[in-house]
Amino acid sequence: MTPDNQSDIKDPSLAEAGRQRIAWASREMPVIRQIRERFATEKPLQGIRISACLHITTETANLALVLKDGGAKVILCASNPLSTQDDTAAALVEYGIPTNAIKGEDEKTYYKHIDTALDNKPNITVDDGADLVTTLHIKRQDLLKDVLGGTEETTTGVIRLRSLAKAGKLQYPIIAVNDAQTKYLFDNRYGTGQSTIDGITRATNILWAGKRVVVSGYGWCGRGIALRARGLGAHVIVTEVEPTRALEAILDGYQVMPLLKAAEIGDIFITISGNKNVIDKAHLEMMKDGAILANSGHFNVEINIPALESLSQGVRRFRSFIDEYSLKDGRHLYLLGEGRLINLAAAEGHPASVMDMSFANQALCLEYIVKNRQNLETKVYRVPEEIDKKVARLKLKSMETEIDSLTPEQKTYLASWHEGT
Ligand SMILES: NC(=O)c1ccc[n+]([C@@H]2O[C@H](COP(=O)([O-])OP(=O)(O)OC[C@H]3O[C@@H](n4cnc5c(N)ncnc54)[C@H](O)[C@@H]3O)[C@@H](O)[C@H]2O)c1
Repeated sequence: MTPDNQSDIKDPSLAEAGRQRIAWASREMPVIRQIRERFATEKPLQGIRISACLHITTETANLALVLKDGGAKVILCASNPLSTQDDTAAALVEYGIPTNAIKGEDEKTYYKHIDTALDNKPNITVDDGADLVTTLHIKRQDLLKDVLGGTEETTTGVIRLRSLAKAGKLQYPIIAVNDAQTKYLFDNRYGTGQSTIDGITRATNILWAGKRVVVSGYGWCGRGIALRARGLGAHVIVTEVEPTRALEAILDGYQVMPLLKAAEIGDIFITISGNKNVIDKAHLEMMKDGAILANSGHFNVEINIPALESLSQGVRRFRSFIDEYSLKDGRHLYLLGEGRLINLAAAEGHPASVMDMSFANQALCLEYIVKNRQNLETKVYRVPEEIDKKVARLKLKSMETEIDSLTPEQKTYLASWHEGT
């Protein structure tokens, strides 16, 4: 039983280890630390109930502490069954932030935890993938009347919410934090890039140099993964469905081909598209014996796992986060982290330094929602430009980096159409 009776975590005795790791992450989160100091005095979220569905990591803990110090009543649940750090969850409960998350929880428990977070009767939702918001819209509509607004952290969640809005069913304003430049340019690219390689390395201890690595999806995350894999000496092949992105991958120096062709030669396959069955039965049928499959996209649907099962005569857990599928034709394929985002399943997710910017956007957007609650419409908003710029400025300052400013003459020049050749 946890002290608050509102939490469900693996083991409260892990709290000390969690506290240490949260403090370590905080060292790399100067922008969040600064916002926390201001929130602690100004209390911009006083009395606001926040239900947050996020990866329960040390970085999320630092965000939750900002919101609590800002006066909010925060409750947390996991946004993925495999991404929870149990020691972090235990520390959060000790910090007085009810938390519902256990690494490896089954789907029923995952949704039970979302329900518990919603029992907080949120005024604001914070989501990563939109499972909390869709549960609220479908199952817990009675709670909608108290909701002022929400934020969404990731590409897949934003896509789902835009679909909900397009269908005319979105019930309150949501800010797409993912779409801030200080989020996707750094978190998606450098964060996912580094941590995906980290997750696969921790799970397998493979040597990247000389491997053929197939990256499916050349969006912001895919660019980062391809870049880092190449940096380690891998030969990177990109697969895409968007012609412009495919072109960009070629000019960035990668080989581009259809996945059916890449399937024959790849050693490691990484899906990062936000799409479904990207690696499908036909691809699995072509793969070399010993190929490794990993996903870093939000949901575990990018690799067609039921198809992999149907081709197999047996599966065994080879070591943590590696399942060996023995195919009926004698080949073996290795699925990492049950097809769930490998950077959070087998490693610790994004480094704190990039989450500093993503979560600074979160904190400032939540403050913005509370301040502007009377004026917001029921739609998916972009992050206000002044918040995005402010986060960039604060981050640069924390790096002791100064930049130039436009002179009055340059401002006039950039605003005019008169001056030419
Ligand atoms: N692992 C993490 O920590 C983490 C972090 C951020 C985002 N994400 C998730 O990663 C996914 C990608 O995010 P993003 O910001 O790069 O999105 P994005 O929209 O920038 O890029 C996705 C790319 O995948 C391509 N694509 C779609 N279907 C494809 C297919 N069948 N084959 C090949 N390519 C295909 C699209 O054309 C697009 O270029 C999303 O699910 C997002 O939520 C994960």
